[in-house]
Amino acid sequence: MHVFIAGGSGQTGSLVIENLIEQGYTVTALVRNPSAVSSKVGLDLVQGTPVNKADIEKSFARRLPDAVIVTLTPAKETFENGSSFIAHVTRNTVQVMEQFGTSKIIYLCAFGVGESYANLNFMMKGAVCATPLGKKFADHKEAEEVIKKASGVQSVIVKPAMLKNGEPKQIEYLGEAGEEASFMPSITRASVAKFMVAALSSEEWDGKTPVIANVQ
Ligand SMILES: NC(=O)c1ccc[n+]([C@@H]2O[C@H](COP(=O)([O-])OP(=O)(O)OC[C@H]3O[C@@H](n4cnc5c(N)ncnc54)[C@H](OP(=O)(O)O)[C@@H]3O)[C@@H](O)[C@H]2O)c1
Repeated sequence: MHVFIAGGSGQTGSLVIENLIEQGYTVTALVRNPSAVSSKVGLDLVQGTPVNKADIEKSFARRLPDAVIVTLTPAKETFENGSSFIAHVTRNTVQVMEQFGTSKIIYLCAFGVGESYANLNFMMKGAVCATPLGKKFADHKEAEEVIKKASGVQSVIVKPAMLKNGEPKQIEYLGEAGEEASFMPSITRASVAKFMVAALSSEEWDGKTPVIANVQ
């Protein structure tokens, strides 16, 4: 199975690539700076950015992916119609998926985006209202809507709790909107990477927005 990743140079994205390669997947990673990513057998690095649809098309044309993983972070740029960075690149990505017939996307979102906002604790709700986190969550929400509207595209929108570094640990599912969340759940990026890669080959999470954390 061949996977296209946007965000592969990031902290979670690089762990996703490691997991994919370990499990025998082949990968095309579209990155702004290929020299910042360690090369691996089975990993094809394409220089570019998902901001440019043509760069995604170029990556797909090199080798058609069976699935896509997005581990980007919201950035400050805005685009036509006031679209946020993350909505713009997500729209580009799903349009290219539709064009080439790639049918599954696993998207790294966040607990607190969309319906899951209701289940954040009062401190996190305050941070969403009063800090730049609110803009990032609004951007992720816009991207989530873009994905849900895409035709012929199956999605898993992964909503992890607060990210930490460290080893992969046992994961608990906190509901589609984080209904089962404790006061301050967290999860290691390595656990998130494993979850995202496992979701590729399983139908368990298709069409869902799993809020996940490590067992506390
Ligand atoms: N922090 C938390 O507690 C938390 C909790 C839940 C969910 N999340 C979500 O997790 C994600 C962050 O994961 P992470 O920590 O692994 O991210 P990260 O290490 O900051 O990686 C971000 C990736 O996005 C790319 N990127 C950033 N700005 C870009 C731009 N303008 N154009 C093209 N590419 C760009 C980076 O590419 P370059 O290497 O080229 O810069 C990198 O590959 C975010 O979506 C965040 O909302 C975070």
